[in-house]
Amino acid sequence: MKTIVIDIKELVQVEREPVKWVAGKDMGRVERLQDAFLEVEDGRIASFGRMSERPAVEEGTRVVEAKGRLVLPTFCDPHTHLVYAGSREIEYADKIRGLSYEEIARRGGGILSTVERVREATEEELFESAAERAREIAGQGTGAVEIKSGYGLNLETELKMLRVARRLKETSPLTIRTTFLGAHATPPEFKGRRGEYADAVINEMIPVVAAEELADYIDVFCDNGFFTVEETDRLLNAGMKHGLRAKVHANELGRSGGVQVGVKYNALSVDHLERAGQEEIEALLGSETMPTVLPGATLFLDLPRAPARAMIDAGLPVALASDYNPGSAPSGNMRLVMSLGCILYKMLPEEALNAATINAARAMGAEEEVGSIARGKRANFLITKPVPGLEYLPYAFGSDWIERVYIGGERVR
Ligand code: NIG
Ligand code: FE
Repeated sequence: MKTIVIDIKELVQVEREPVKWVAGKDMGRVERLQDAFLEVEDGRIASFGRMSERPAVEEGTRVVEAKGRLVLPTFCDPHTHLVYAGSREIEYADKIRGLSYEEIARRGGGILSTVERVREATEEELFESAAERAREIAGQGTGAVEIKSGYGLNLETELKMLRVARRLKETSPLTIRTTFLGAHATPPEFKGRRGEYADAVINEMIPVVAAEELADYIDVFCDNGFFTVEETDRLLNAGMKHGLRAKVHANELGRSGGVQVGVKYNALSVDHLERAGQEEIEALLGSETMPTVLPGATLFLDLPRAPARAMIDAGLPVALASDYNPGSAPSGNMRLVMSLGCILYKMLPEEALNAATINAARAMGAEEEVGSIARGKRANFLITKPVPGLEYLPYAFGSDWIERVYIGGERVR
């Protein structure tokens, strides 16, 4: 089945020569075509160009009119905890009253309260709620998403979460990558014995997760009160030996050394970075690790701002992600994340768009499939309402400027 979108006011983020990511000054450039068409065949981008060069429309081709509208690639969201049970609005109110994230975690709230709910939930219940969230984010313009485990913290429940994520991969139109985050926190059964829990993750969980091919990547929460650099090193090393490339939660709560250990293992991404500084920037320069910032979590937890601007100015790439999870970012809205990238981090609209598309695709290892309008990539794109131009999109931070969303060439909104 062919589809052709015609009369596009501006086709945004087109690539003739696909790139893996954009860094530094290049983040400020977004290639666009005015008065354009986009042709889709069998779920892939077949061609694009100016209306004056458009191919003759064959019979049976679906024609979509996009006058006055922009067409851009759907967002990629390379860091989420989309599979979970329950919600944590009580903790949210406690936070407003003045408790910190770490204090809440120490009282048995935080991650561990979600762990309890996820252990109790059936696989079916988890699937239903995760599928609902997947539909929600697709409607908000996300076409690809990374999903982590990490609310099980025992073999049985970690596997349950990853099976849910795999089932989503098979049933949802979204492009999905899955990440094993057994080292997200120390479960109550191992209270005071974190090192032993890390050993259990290494010896009892990683081999099974890898053998069942349930995860593409491994992640560790390397931060104050969570896993140390030494434990993270052992965990990433074990993951790597089983073919799981590293991702790291780093520098959310402290200068943990998480970025450096991530770079040591050639991590696909290091994420959060609210407390990263010059040393982390230097560690990242020359590496292939994508610094990924999560402004939804920064805003929600009222954390210091990650040095995204300094990173771009130093020549690094930056990706944006939602961190969708019940504790620190109960929203997967990448449209809002892009605005927050501009508002909180002083990213320019073009930089934020690159960060939420091609760089985000790279941060989840999907840059060959998605993240730009390029021939042969999946036909994941969205059509805006009539808008003045690209800059308007992050500016109108509360407006739903998305009119239609296509994933794999099929309309999902
Ligand atoms: O990315 N930082 C660690 N993990 C999540 C929060 C998970 C939770 O609070 O449930 C995060 O922010
Ligand atoms: Fe996270």
